[in-house]
Amino acid sequence: MRTLIAANWKMHGDLSWIQKPSEFRALFPAGKDNIEILLCPPAHMLEAMVGASTGLDISVGAQNCHDESSGAYTGELSADMVAETGATYVILGHSERRAIFGDTDNWVAAKTSAAQKAGLRPIVCVGESRAEREAGQAEEVVGAQIDGSIPADARGDNIVIAYEPVWAIGTGLTPTIEDIATIHDHIRGCLTARFGVKGADKIQILYGGSVNPENAQEILALKDVAGALIGGAGLEMKSLAAIAALA
Ligand code: PGA
Repeated sequence: MRTLIAANWKMHGDLSWIQKPSEFRALFPAGKDNIEILLCPPAHMLEAMVGASTGLDISVGAQNCHDESSGAYTGELSADMVAETGATYVILGHSERRAIFGDTDNWVAAKTSAAQKAGLRPIVCVGESRAEREAGQAEEVVGAQIDGSIPADARGDNIVIAYEPVWAIGTGLTPTIEDIATIHDHIRGCLTARFGVKGADKIQILYGGSVNPENAQEILALKDVAGALIGGAGLEMKSLAAIAALA
């Protein structure tokens, strides 16, 4: 399995950013490594980004989708609509979606199910708040999110988990290397309970939250960290390429 280096652009960028896949490949040529690069732009540029990434070995993903296939859901995109753009991934249950847009575990599970049925590979995000970490509840909270956000009908061979402590996102703060290892281990245990050892072994667990070229090497060297979900440092191809080079 290739190490997954994923950039979540959130609500940043304009159509000129479709140059970024070539810009990235000029800095970090394809085929020299065991790394998969994934760009997750805002929805309006998905299709153009897929076109601009063709032949560059760069995957494209959306940042959300709805669980229904169609209907009166103003402002939403279904998983099939995302798939129609040519995107192959979708980030689901990001903490910003959970905090600002009301995504619950149940809803993330429904979206995950819809995404898999549409042939997309969901990246399901989980992570504790600062208060939960300080109260010693990080494992419990993350375990409950894993149980609640992965639907009963989920396929283990087409899902990625991202551990993103809420307090580490966009703050420059990261957990200690030991704490990241502990939570990844706990997530692996939850996945094993659900999918069995063989099934769980196929599931990549990413770390996300203030990953940058200074800390990426140490984080990505951890045994059970199969890649990174990157916000701020993924907006510039120079820093994204620097992280990929350390992976
Ligand atoms: P950050 O964001 O790298 O800017 O902390 C990560 C994320 O939100 O996925």
